[in-house]
Parts: sequence; C-alpha cells; structure tokens
Amino acid sequence: MDLAWSFSHLDPTIAETAYETLGAIRRGCPVSRSGELGGFVLVTGYDEIREAARAADRFSAYVDGLGAAAVVAEMREVVAPMFETDEAHHHQWRRLLQDFFTPQAAAAQEQYVRAVCRETLQELISHGAADLIRAYTRQVPPLVIGRVLGLTELERAWLSEHVRALYGAKTLTEAKQVGRMYADFLLERIHERRAHPTGDLLSAMVTAEVDGRAADDDELVKMTMLLVAAGHLTTADACATAILQLVEEPAMRERVSADPTALEAFVEELVRYEPAVAATGRTVTTETRLGGMPLSPGDRLLLAWGSANRDERVFDDGDIFRLDRERTTPQHLGWGSGEHRCLGRHLARVELRVMLTELLSALPGFRLQPGAEVRRTFGVIRGVASLPVQWERR
Ligand code: HEM
Repeated sequence: MDLAWSFSHLDPTIAETAYETLGAIRRGCPVSRSGELGGFVLVTGYDEIREAARAADRFSAYVDGLGAAAVVAEMREVVAPMFETDEAHHHQWRRLLQDFFTPQAAAAQEQYVRAVCRETLQELISHGAADLIRAYTRQVPPLVIGRVLGLTELERAWLSEHVRALYGAKTLTEAKQVGRMYADFLLERIHERRAHPTGDLLSAMVTAEVDGRAADDDELVKMTMLLVAAGHLTTADACATAILQLVEEPAMRERVSADPTALEAFVEELVRYEPAVAATGRTVTTETRLGGMPLSPGDRLLLAWGSANRDERVFDDGDIFRLDRERTTPQHLGWGSGEHRCLGRHLARVELRVMLTELLSALPGFRLQPGAEVRRTFGVIRGVASLPVQWERR
C-alpha cells in the first residue's frame, strides 16, 4: 500500500515511527494524497509547507475536521476569529491581541510561572515517584494561560481542572459533559467582560470590533477554547517531550542543567526536532499548484510541520537533535510560518525554560521507573502519553 495514501496523523499506531514514515513520504513526494479521514493532501516538504502557510490568498486557515480547530469538535460550523480567518480579517484580530503576547508580556509572566512550578514540585518531592505528565507538565500551562486571559486565581484553578478532565476524558459522553460545563464557564466570563470590561485579554476579545462588528458568543467561546488549547496542550506536550529527551541523553541533561544558555538552545532545537504542533490544516480556495500537484478549491491540506524541520534539502542531519545547531538559517517551522505563526511563542519559550529549570533543580536525580514503557503520541499535537519517574525522597 502507498505510504502516503494510507497515512493518517490521527492513527495512534503511527506515533512511534511517525518521522521515519513522514521522511519516506517526503523523499518520495513532498506533496502527496492520503485517502484517510475523507481524503486530504499531505504536505511534508519544507518549501511546500512554507509556501502554503504564507499564501493566504490561495490557502485558507479554515479547514473542516482537520488540524487545530478539530480540538473543539462540537463547534465545527462556527468560524473562530483569528485562528480560522484569513488576510485582512485575520490581521485585524491579530493586531488587537498582539500586545498580550509580546516578549515583554511573556517576561512579565515568568515570576508567576516559577511560583506555580515550585509549588507543584514542592508537593511532589516527598512522594519519590510520579507520572510527570499528570503531576507536572499538564498542571502548569493551563494556570498560566488562564492568567494571561485575565482570570482570577479561583477561576484559573477551575479552568485547569476542567481542561485536564476534558482532554483526558475516557468516553465521548464524559467529554461532552465536561465540554458543556467548560463552554458555560467561558460564556459567563465573556458576559461579565461585556458588561464590565477590565482591560485584560478576554475583555480585548469581547470588545473588539473587526469589519464593523464584535464577535458573537459562539465565536468567542470557540476562540477562547482554541486559545486555551494553544497555550496548554502545546506547552504541556513540548515539556513532556523535552523531559524524555533529557532522560534519554544524560550528557545533554548535565549540560543544560548547568548552563542556562544551553537550556535556551535546547528548547529551540526541541521545537525544531519534535514540534508540539505536529500537523495543522489549510483549505485550497482557488485553482492552484503546490510542489507540482494541481489543487482545486475545497482540497484540504495537512501541513506536517515536524517533517519540514527534518527536510534533507534544507537541514543537515535533520533527524539528529543537535544542541549546537545554528539558530538563524534556515529558520525551522516549529512555530509555523507566515501570518498565523505562533502568537504565543515568547510565552512558550519562557514557560518551557522555567518548567525545565525548576524540575531539574527540584528533582535532580529523577529517572524512569524500572520497566516503564514510554509511548509517544502523534496527531495535531506531538507528545508523550505518560512519564513514570522516580527520585530519592527528601
Ligand atoms: C511549544 C509550544 C508551542 C508550539 C510548538 C506552537 C506552535 C504553533 C504553530 C506551529 C502555530 C501555527 C499553526 C498554523 O499556522 O496552522 C501556532 C499558532 C498559534 N499559537 Fe502556538 N505553539 C506553542 C505554544 C503556544 C502558546 C503557549 C500559546 C499561547 C496562547 C500559543 C498561541 C498560538 C496562537 C494564538 C496561534 C494562532 C495564531 C494565528 O492564527 O494567527 N502557542 N502555534
């Protein structure tokens, strides 16, 4: 069977060997068709992904059932402002939110991120063992994105608990139940901000007027859910992948534990090598070609960002994690490319640096539990299913 034709990023069995498979597909043909998930065009080459991400006049960020917005499956028919809109409409929204995601705004969160990390780790130290995903990597980011939105401490705790329940739900019924509560919770906050804007990010979203109108309740709920998912799932999974990388490479771990500059380089190389946002989508809006393939309006594309970052036509030793890799040229696509390039990247860098620094300092000797089987995950998001580790109890 043709490798590309049977490829689905949502098939859990591909996770372990995802980059070998994507590499073979890319070397065969960087733009190919998959017959899975109703049919889509799989884009795996660096130049081709970059072109699709940058040509908003030919490729729309709105894509039905494929890519990032699929994490809010219940609201398929609602188009989320910014995330799923293009060109002028997208620009205006992005400009309105930009001030909350500058390097300065990210730096202003650092003290809070550190305090949350320390508190979470302090509770763990005496246990001697934990699954670091449940106990750490998924604990910190939802609180941080809640704070960026402008939620109170109690609200952040509510949000954090419920988004974990939503994305960890075992059945569809459970997911729907929690999803409903979550939507109601956001709706209440949205109505509060509409009545009494406070100057926080949520107020900016609620009061914004783009093309002469404010977003309605459904658009705001979907946009906020996507913002929380963008801030939470990505950073939690990136941190988990980072921890696994450090467990597997003791010399690298020693280096980044001792040298903050090496840790920063480690985070950037991690986002190239194993980007947490593994694959998102676009829809073709006009007759066009990409990498020689003719495309028609309505064709759905899946952009496999992590595959672009290993493209042998662009990167030397792309399949190798190199701490000393030049950061400037060529720029990796782990944060995306073009107008939709990650808005939260400065915040993500701060969170990852602080989460890893605090972990390495609080649990310096942590190691995988004997016999632990660590399974990677792949989909829209790339991560690790669980990280059972142990350390000397103090
Ligand atoms: C390691 C962590 C992260 C990675 C690897 C990552 C990666 C990406 C990528 C690849 C895109 C582009 C998707 C596309 O064009 O289809 C994106 C968009 C976005 N990211 Fe991130 N992200 C991370 C963390 C965050 C955080 C912490 C936030 C905070 C809220 C965030 C907010 C966003 C937003 C709002 C967009 C959409 C921007 C737009 O549509 O204009 N991300 N991210």
